[in-house]
Amino acid sequence: MIGDVLGIAKPLVLAPMGFVSGGALAAAVSRAGGLGLIGGGYGDADWIRREFKQAEGAHVGIGFITWSLAQQPELLDLALSHKPRAVMLSFGDPRPFAEKIRRSGAKLICQVQSLAIARQALEAQPDVLVAQGTEAGGHGGERSLFALLPAVRDLAADKPILAAGGIADRRGFEAALALGAAGVLVGTRFSASNEALTAPPAKKRIVEASGDATVRTTVFDVVRNFDWRGITGRALRNRFTDTWHGREHELVADRDAEVAKYRKAVERQDFDTALIFAGEAVDLIDSVLPAAEIVRRIVH
Ligand SMILES: Cc1cc2nc3c(=O)[nH]c(=O)nc-3n(C[C@H](O)[C@H](O)[C@H](O)COP(=O)(O)O)c2cc1C
Repeated sequence: MIGDVLGIAKPLVLAPMGFVSGGALAAAVSRAGGLGLIGGGYGDADWIRREFKQAEGAHVGIGFITWSLAQQPELLDLALSHKPRAVMLSFGDPRPFAEKIRRSGAKLICQVQSLAIARQALEAQPDVLVAQGTEAGGHGGERSLFALLPAVRDLAADKPILAAGGIADRRGFEAALALGAAGVLVGTRFSASNEALTAPPAKKRIVEASGDATVRTTVFDVVRNFDWRGITGRALRNRFTDTWHGREHELVADRDAEVAKYRKAVERQDFDTALIFAGEAVDLIDSVLPAAEIVRRIVH
């Protein structure tokens, strides 16, 4: 059924990871039978144009951070002009955008982190819901997937649900189906794929890291000046999180000096300081692989 809704042969969707899921990765996942979503992230028109071009005509979609899209709604028109197969919205009220997405012919996917968020998303009448557990890499909520997924399943009647958070191999895929999902949305595993825009030293850290070494934190948003209103993101722990996590007020007070240092670290690809968003699934990642091989290993 999810196959019919999204027009895919395999029930796997690439998460629209900002700065990671570019057109090449999205196209590789789509060509392998899943659906690749370009990461619209915080929105940049040139980036969106370029990455759709990189997808070279493959049937891909795009994902936006809803609160960021609300600040630049023209980016939705730009994305829809590229005829995406689906638009995923996460973190914010999807209702103002739903009708336009539907009228364009794209499917609407809403990612939710709690039952309250799921109830609001259902009012937008999405084609697909994603239940995102707290295990996930990147921004997310506090609920674990194991209880959240069947609860969202019960709430959403017969709407297809994708499971997200901590899924990186066939075992996670099968568990998701057993809990009522129609398929999976996978991020972290693809961040360490050949086609991902992830910097090579960051891919190496993902391969080497243990899931014990991730943390949900706001410190990177403080230093990057993004207002996530307290929503945390799961990232690999490093010297920066060890220094500032739990001392956010001091980081805010010291922000100007730290921003300058942080920007230099990003330029140098110094990941003792710079951010690598990754979820607990890093336990299950021991090599960088082509995206098609990752799809093959996860889905039957
Ligand atoms: C590097 C990275 C960047 C992400 N960026 C976004 C984003 O821009 N928008 C979004 O809706 N979700 C984003 N996510 C979260 C994903 O949508 C998804 O919920 C998550 O990757 C699933 O869990 P997993 O990482 O364990 O596979 C990101 C995740 C990662 C790992």
